[in-house]
Amino acid sequence: MVETHFSAFDFARESLLEEFFTLLRYKSISTDPEYRGAVAECAEWVETFLSETGFTVERWNGGGHPIIFASWMNAGPSKPTVLLYGHYDVQPVDPIDLWSSPPFEPEIRNGEVFARGAVDNKGQLFYTMAAIRSLMQRTGTLPVNIKFVIEGEEEAGSESLLNLIDEKSNALKADHLFIVDVGFESLESPAVVLGCRGLVAFELELRGSNTDLHSGLHGGIAYNPNRAMVELLSQMVDSAGRVAIPGFYDDIQELSPEDRAQYSIDFSTLEYENMFDARPLGGELRYTAGERRTLRPTIEINGIAGGYAGVGFKTVIPAVCHAKISCRLVPNQDPERIGKLVVEFLKERCPQAMMIKVEAMHSGRPLRSAVGGRGASAARQSISEVLKRECFYSVEGGSIPIGNDLARASGAEVSLIGFCLPGDAIHAPNEKFGLDRMRVGFATICRLVEILGA
Ligand code: BES
Ligand code: MN
Repeated sequence: MVETHFSAFDFARESLLEEFFTLLRYKSISTDPEYRGAVAECAEWVETFLSETGFTVERWNGGGHPIIFASWMNAGPSKPTVLLYGHYDVQPVDPIDLWSSPPFEPEIRNGEVFARGAVDNKGQLFYTMAAIRSLMQRTGTLPVNIKFVIEGEEEAGSESLLNLIDEKSNALKADHLFIVDVGFESLESPAVVLGCRGLVAFELELRGSNTDLHSGLHGGIAYNPNRAMVELLSQMVDSAGRVAIPGFYDDIQELSPEDRAQYSIDFSTLEYENMFDARPLGGELRYTAGERRTLRPTIEINGIAGGYAGVGFKTVIPAVCHAKISCRLVPNQDPERIGKLVVEFLKERCPQAMMIKVEAMHSGRPLRSAVGGRGASAARQSISEVLKRECFYSVEGGSIPIGNDLARASGAEVSLIGFCLPGDAIHAPNEKFGLDRMRVGFATICRLVEILGA
C-alpha cells in the first residue's frame, strides 16, 4: 500500500534528510582529478550505507573511480532479480558566482533542497537506497532479489564500468533493470522513460601559428584560427536545422506511427519560453519540438575558446582556437561510426592554412526498450498509484552513457525512471530537488519492488 510507504518516509524524515545532506556534502566531481579523494570518500559512504542495510557489497575497480556493486539474493530463485543503477558522481559547479548558496552545503528553501547533485543523481540514488532499506527494516526481508550497481563516472562517460561490463556480466544478470536517473516534463503527466539518446563528443583544435600574432603586423597575411573555426563549424548544420554531415542520418530507425504514438513527448512552447527565456527553434525544423528533444539526433557546439575576450581590448590574431562539440544519437546510430563521419567532415572542410587536431571521445549508445515489458508496466503502475494519476511512456533527450551496455550485459528488461523536472537546473547553478518528489520517489521504489515481488 502506498500510504504505508509515505508514512515510513514521514516518520524517518529528519534522519533521512540528515543522511541525504551528508551524501550531498561530498565534492564528488568525477571529471576533475583534483576531487579524486572526495569521489573515493563518497563511494565509501555509499558502500557503508548498503552493507549496513544487509547487502553483500563489492568494490569494483575499472581503472578510474570506484564502482559499488551490492546484492541481496535471499528472496530465492523463484523471485525476480531487480538491478538498480545510479551514480554518486556529480557535474562541476561553475559558474560558482551564480549559486545562491554554496553547492556542497545543502540548504532547504521552500521545500526544495539546493545543492550540486540534489537530483542528478544523489537525490534519486538516495531515495532509491533509502526505500530498499526501509522495506528491509519494516518487513525483515525483501520480496525480490536486488542488485545495485552505483558508479562514480557517469558524468565523465562511464569508462571504468564499460571496461568491466563483459567481465562482470554474470554478477550483473537480472530480470529487470531500472536506471533511476531521469525525469519527465511535468508532475501532471508522469512517465516511465523507455529510451534515451546516445552521445559522442569531440575536441577540436585549429592552429594557425606557433605564437599569438599582432593583428596589425600580421593582419592581411595570417589566417585567423577564430575565423577558420567559425567557417568550419557553421557548415555542420544547414538553415533548416539539419545536420549537414554526409551520412549522419543514414542509420536512423524511423518509428512507425503506431510506435511513435506510444510515447508521450508533448512539449509546451509557452512554458518553455517562460521558464528559460529561450525560444525552442533549435534542431530540425520539420519535426515538432517534442520530437527534436527526444527522437531526433543533434550536433551542438558546447564551447569555443580562442583569442582574447576579457576586459578591455587586445588586437591579437590568436595562435589557436579550441572547440568542444557533441552529438546526441538515436537508434541505430553507432557512436563510433558517427565519430568517424564528423572527424572526416571537419578535416576535409578545414581551411588549408590551419593545422587541425580533432578527436572523438567518450561515447554512449542510444537506448530504446520495448513498450509493455513487465518491469516497465510495474513502474508505470507504481508511479500512477503514488501520484494518483495516469502514468505514460516517454523517451528522454539526455544520455546515460552506460545504459545500453548495461542492459545488454545484464540481459535485463530495462526501464528508466526518476522524478527530475525541467526546472531542477541539473548541471547548472542552484540545482534543486523538491522534498515532495523525494518522498514520491521513495514510495515509488517501495511500491515497484512490492509489485514485482507479488
Ligand atoms: N541524469 C542525466 C541524464 C538525464 C537527465 C536524462 C534528465 C533525462 C532527464 C545524466 O546524469 C547526464 O547528465 N548525463 C550526461 C552524460 C554525459 C556527461 C557523458 C548527459 O546526458 O549529458
Ligand atoms: Mn547528469
